[in-house]
Amino acid sequence: MNYPSLLGLCLVFLTWASAGPPTAEPLLMFALEGDTVTLPCGIPSIKSCSSVNWLKYGQYGTTASVAEDRTHVLLWDCSLKITHSVLDDACLYSCVSGTHISNVSLQILNVTESLPRKDDIIELHCILNTFKGYVPCKNKEILIKWSAEDDTPISGDRFTFENSSDCFSKLIIKEKQTDHHRKWQCHLTQNGEIKATSVYTTTVTDGLQEVFGAVGESVSLSCGHTSSYGVEWAKCEKPLMHDITSDMVPQDTSLVISKLTALHAADYKCSEATGQHSVLNKIRLHTLDVTAESAPDGEYLNLTCVLTCAKECDKDFNLSWSGGDQKALQSRLMQVNNTLRKEIFLPDGLKRWDEITCSVHREGALMASKKWRTVNPLQTPAWLVLPLGLLICVAAGVVYMKRKHNKDAANEQSSIGMTHVYEVIRAEEEPQQQRQSNTDTTTTTSLYHLLQAVN
Ligand SMILES: *[C@@H]1O[C@H](CO)[C@@H](O)[C@H](O)[C@H]1NC(C)=O
Ligand SMILES: *[C@@H]1O[C@H](CO)[C@@H](O)[C@H](O)[C@H]1NC(C)=O
Ligand SMILES: *[C@@H]1O[C@H](CO)[C@@H](O)[C@H](O)[C@H]1NC(C)=O
Ligand SMILES: *[C@@H]1O[C@H](CO)[C@@H](O)[C@H](O)[C@H]1NC(C)=O
Ligand SMILES: *[C@@H]1O[C@H](CO)[C@@H](O)[C@H](O)[C@H]1NC(C)=O
Ligand SMILES: *[C@@H]1O[C@H](CO)[C@@H](O)[C@H](O)[C@H]1NC(C)=O
Repeated sequence: MNYPSLLGLCLVFLTWASAGPPTAEPLLMFALEGDTVTLPCGIPSIKSCSSVNWLKYGQYGTTASVAEDRTHVLLWDCSLKITHSVLDDACLYSCVSGTHISNVSLQILNVTESLPRKDDIIELHCILNTFKGYVPCKNKEILIKWSAEDDTPISGDRFTFENSSDCFSKLIIKEKQTDHHRKWQCHLTQNGEIKATSVYTTTVTDGLQEVFGAVGESVSLSCGHTSSYGVEWAKCEKPLMHDITSDMVPQDTSLVISKLTALHAADYKCSEATGQHSVLNKIRLHTLDVTAESAPDGEYLNLTCVLTCAKECDKDFNLSWSGGDQKALQSRLMQVNNTLRKEIFLPDGLKRWDEITCSVHREGALMASKKWRTVNPLQTPAWLVLPLGLLICVAAGVVYMKRKHNKDAANEQSSIGMTHVYEVIRAEEEPQQQRQSNTDTTTTTSLYHLLQAVN
């Protein structure tokens, strides 16, 4: 038995000690369908488990002894271990020894989809105990609620809820192409605290999985399927050729992009490496970046948050700045071609330490964020702060330096990894042009490498 459940048991003992025996509320236990759960026998000072009998109360007031089998096992401390629990296991249990009795109520949560889908409507059912369990939904402490992948409430025109009971709720979704491989959470809460979470992943025929990544970081696009022939990847319908210098490397059935730039924002596809080349998954990758412009004397700093979308940016996307100076002036959300932008003007510029983050939300749920940290100029060589359009980002002992084009989406980037060695980078303007990759680069053996765009 692990420490938290021991602690729980102690608390139960304490509760009993203060409230006195019979009619105590049963101990509530929570599990997902398929979980292994151990129901403690709350009787103090049992000498031998041979005197212990576990009872199970049925739906219609029936009582039965719990028979030991492969999934129901009595443990050395007289607790009852249920492996691979099913909704039918959700009910009230009594651990009985002589005149002593201690009750445990097991609550099991599951999300299922109502199939087949009709008229592009996805209907998810969050079920607690299939109403078979112990006094279903009379327990006011227990509620179920839905959330998006990041625990924020689900909101938007295309979602409706039908809560026919506190223990049964429907989430009805008007299907979108980008609902592919999207996750929906149903939580079981007790007094507002989450006790169990069941996650459901929707799939959409011919759908697209949307992935958001921060520029400079690595991202792994998962095919989500395996094929005995192996998988191959294509970007914008063009097969990806993999060589040693490529910044996109297949790993198992994933495609790993080591240092994301805005040029990676595109539609990707993985398909079987042979035969029909049948498509296994389609992924739409969007990238988030923060670019900076500052006055030569560091008096103020303008940051622009840029979301580069693979295609046109969806109306459900939103950018927001957080942290930093409360006085900072922000622009409204601007759509420029396939980018979304939001600017922030920091009047005090680089004069103090600041951490400020731009986040992208999809339908209210956080998808990615990119931090910007200014560097105290006293600790920074003057030549580093001087050049316009130079972005300095210090994170976790790694110095990245990035050079941005001013206004266009096609940000090229120079970046220097590795510990404490860095070099001056060229900051001249280059014509904006889509490039497939940064090619003239990469010596993996050297202490640092300098990525540079070529025409
Ligand atoms: C346990 O539950 C049974 C069945 O509902 C009830 O008769 C009994 O009084 C309960 N015992 C305790 C100690 O709560
Ligand atoms: C929910 O129930 C279904 C059908 O019994 C089962 O296949 C699925 O694994 C369960 N889901 C979870 C998260 O336990
Ligand atoms: C139903 O539940 C959802 C999610 O938990 C909640 O947002 C919504 O307000 C509820 N609707 C009603 C009518 O109670
Ligand atoms: C920064 O923003 C301020 C206020 O919007 C503007 O006056 C200034 O010209 C901008 N500076 C740069 C370098 O873009
Ligand atoms: C975007 O977020 C801001 C606050 O961060 C909010 O005021 C605005 O309504 C949101 N816009 C959309 C389209 O959701
Ligand atoms: C937006 O697209 C148009 C047409 O392709 C192009 O002329 C313009 O320069 C683009 N704007 C930006 C800011 O990239």
